[in-house]
Amino acid sequence: RQNERDSLYIVLNFAQKYYQNLLMEHEEGQSIGLSYFRNRGFNDPTIKSFGLGYSLTDWDGLTKEAAKKGYNPELLEKAGLTLHKEGDAQANRATRYYDRFRGRVIFPIHNVSGKVIAFGARILSADKSQPKYINSPETDVYHKSKILYGIYQAKNAIRQEDVCYLVEGYTDVISLHQAGIQNVAASSGTSLTEEQIKLIARFTNNITILYDGDAAGIKAALRGLDMVLEEGLNVSLVTLPDGEDPDSYVYKVGAEGFKKHVQQATKDFITFKTEMLLKDAGDNPFKRAEAINEIVTSITKISDPIKRQIFFKRTADLMKMDEQTLISEGNKHLRRRE
Ligand code: CTP
Ligand code: MN
Ligand code: MN
Ligand code: MN
Ligand code: MN
Repeated sequence: RQNERDSLYIVLNFAQKYYQNLLMEHEEGQSIGLSYFRNRGFNDPTIKSFGLGYSLTDWDGLTKEAAKKGYNPELLEKAGLTLHKEGDAQANRATRYYDRFRGRVIFPIHNVSGKVIAFGARILSADKSQPKYINSPETDVYHKSKILYGIYQAKNAIRQEDVCYLVEGYTDVISLHQAGIQNVAASSGTSLTEEQIKLIARFTNNITILYDGDAAGIKAALRGLDMVLEEGLNVSLVTLPDGEDPDSYVYKVGAEGFKKHVQQATKDFITFKTEMLLKDAGDNPFKRAEAINEIVTSITKISDPIKRQIFFKRTADLMKMDEQTLISEGNKHLRRRE
């Protein structure tokens, strides 16, 4: 099995070099892919350090090149790089494989030690009938729920800064890096998992969630926050103006403006949750009670009793509630779980 995985790493590394070379040297890659990245504000050192690439509009650019180099077609399929029509394998003729990624810019996904394990591929047109991103499927080396995009490039900075910024997307990671914020990784649009939090915990106990400033981003942040607490890590949040994500916002306000925003807008989870829930509740006492219960539930996810105590106190202050009431309500939750 280790041998099999090694072969996958080799063919994935070949594919990364192939896509990168197209972006940098091929006419179609340069005029379409490279200019796309440059228009988004990515500079050449950034493009290089993330190993970005381009896939030709041909059906079988990679398939052919890999065949020329002697790679086994089945290995390419196992690596998630190619597809074939169902039935072809059974038919009494050679299986016709074709490339999974075509006419897209390519984001290689690395594991913690820097090996390429998968790709994300973005469409260039505004064609709404096609998915914006196509990603590698699960393979023997790529388990989506266990990896974070950018963790390899971020890990030293995460250790050094003792905090990891958690964003949604590929381009958020890249743009923040370029702006000098290198302790950043992305959950790539899927909901945060326990394994991903444990991955971050190898480098720091502090996570700051920095999701897109839209309803989906806020919902995902509220869910992510509870997950982080359950894993025993500390969590803060930064919200962005409506419709902005870290990439678009840093493009708009620049590196210094972005850092200033982060400084001013970072909230501990209690403040964030209180504000979010109370905004919805307004003056409705039933909704306010519901909101307070929600927050108490979050606090009970913290296993450290001292931290719990501190957060009950903060909630009591913010909500103008009696602290003992909150604590005894929280204790009910805790007992129920034992
Ligand atoms: N995503 C995906 N497939 C999609 C849409 C999104 O895998 N069809 C993942 C990608 O990892 C993407 C992340 O979810 O980076 C966040 O999605 P979104 O905010 O829609 O995209 P952005 O990262 O903002 O991409 P861009 O700025 O290029 O539009
Ligand atoms: Mn097959
Ligand atoms: Mn989004
Ligand atoms: Mn986004
Ligand atoms: Mn974006």
